[in-house]
This record gives sequence, C-alpha cells and structure tokens, in this order.
Amino acid sequence: MPQQKDQSVVTEKADSDYVLGTNDEELDRLGLQHRVWRPVVTECWQRVGITHGWRVIDVGAGPGYATADLAEIVGPTGSVLAIERSARFLDAARERCRRRGLTNVEFRQADLMEASLGQPGFDASWCRWVASFVSSPAKLIGNIAGALRPGGLAIFHEYSDYETFRFMPTRPALEKFAQEVMASWRATGGEPDVARALPGLLREAGMRVIEIHPRVRTVAPRDYAWQWPASFIEINVVRLQELGRLTQAEGSEVLREFRAADADPQSWFTTPMFLEIIARRE
Ligand SMILES: C[S@@+](CC[C@H](N)C(=O)[O-])C[C@H]1O[C@@H](n2cnc3c(N)ncnc32)[C@H](O)[C@@H]1O
Repeated sequence: MPQQKDQSVVTEKADSDYVLGTNDEELDRLGLQHRVWRPVVTECWQRVGITHGWRVIDVGAGPGYATADLAEIVGPTGSVLAIERSARFLDAARERCRRRGLTNVEFRQADLMEASLGQPGFDASWCRWVASFVSSPAKLIGNIAGALRPGGLAIFHEYSDYETFRFMPTRPALEKFAQEVMASWRATGGEPDVARALPGLLREAGMRVIEIHPRVRTVAPRDYAWQWPASFIEINVVRLQELGRLTQAEGSEVLREFRAADADPQSWFTTPMFLEIIARRE
C-alpha cells in the first residue's frame, strides 16, 4: 500500500499564478463547493464503478476535499494520486487525509502543463474545475490519457456554459460581476466554457466519450446550495477589485445587490452549468 509522501518538484510560483487565489478563504470556499456538489459527485463515482482497489488520480486536487473522499472509497487496497500545483493547497490536502487516517494517498506537487502524470496504469482520473484554468486543455487531456490503463476512465466536471450564472429577478451589478469573472479567467489564459472543447480533445487523445450530462441547479436563499454564490461572490468581489476589474463602488453595488437577493425569499439563482463527461481510454 503506498504511503503518504511528498514529491515536491515545483516552486511557489504556482500560488500566485492561480486566478482565484489560494488564501484561506478560497480554501474554505472550495470545501463548501465540494459539500454542495458532493451528492452529484458521489452518484457519478458509484455509477462509473469506482470501488475498493481502484487506482485513481485526482488531477488538480486543490485542498483535497475530493481526494479524501476518493481515498475512502477505494480503501486500503486502492490508492489515490493527488496532483496539485499549489504548495498551500497540497499541504491542506495532506493534513485533511492525515486527520481522516488515510494512508493510501500520494501527494505530488506538479504543474499539469509540464509534468506527465506518473506511471501509466491508473483505473480512473477525476478532474473538476481545473481545465478552465490551464493554458492548454489539450496538454491536460493528453497527460490524463497517458496515465490511464486501456479501458481506464477519465471523469470531468468542467464548466460549459458559465453564462447561466444568473439571479432572478435579474440584477445588473451581479450580471456584470459574472462577466468580469469570465473575463478574468480568459485574461490569465483560461476558458470558462472549456468543457465544450473536451469531447474533441478526448477523441484526439485516443479516448472514447461514453456519457455527457449537464449539471445545473436553480436554488433559493433557503437552499444550502445558495451558500455557493454567497461565498463565491464575497471572495471574488475582493479578487476582481485586486485585479482592477471592478471599482470599489462597483464592488459595493455587487454586494448590495446580493444582500437584497439574499433577503428576498422570492429570489432564485441558477448556477453556472458544467458538464459531467465520462470517457474511456481505447
Ligand atoms: C477551482 S480549483 C478546484 C480544486 C479541486 N479540483 C476541487 O474540485 O475542489 C482549481 C485547482 O486547479 C489547480 N491548478 C490550476 N492550474 C494548474 C496547473 N497548471 N497545474 C496543477 N494544478 C493547477 C489550482 O491550483 C487549483 O487547486
């Protein structure tokens, strides 16, 4: 059984490169995001057959919320390789797995644009909300395909239609906020609607797409999932101001509009749509 180990190969450059940041607030926000979508994720993993003994890669693992869940599912006879560029996130992932008593996780600090993902032969890969942030999705897909055994499964949860991010009734400052989020990702070489390109890239990498499901929810302030826009907006207003994409006054208006939506039980919010894509290596 593999032991927890660190194979640091990349520098701290990574933490400043990531457009959403790697501070404590973002780390906690990713946890909330994981809890909101966990039922969908767990259903997907079970449907494709992830179980005891599987070897799975968590590609762009962040602070390891999914990593720890996967490690529990594959059990001591299986293993998870968590690959992440941010040293801070990887430390958090390591600590999370340690606290949960998981010893079947290997942690590797690496840039997905440079490194191959280790010895081929993995049964599955899990890649969520990563492809939008890399400079070359083709390289990412090539790396993933190269790490899987023939018949191995690549599983993605990646945005395809970010513009579905919408409050009802419509709120103009929040509309502009969503546009600026997308623009900020594109300005750093990413693509918010990256999932649209994945079927073609997977085919070119020798993978056969076997399932695609849209994942989107419309929620009210009383729903737990409402906490997702709440935390995302609070953190990213600050981030967009730092990046010079929102003025102080525009940022305040975004927060005022969100508070108004939050206080109105008739408000609805539609999440940015992502695709669940399952592909098999030929
Ligand atoms: C939105 S977070 C998602 C984290 C995790 N997959 C999850 O679902 O909670 C995106 C992650 O991708 C990582 N990332 C972005 N570009 C990367 C690259 N080139 N190499 C490795 N990791 C990268 C970031 O550091 C961050 O942890």
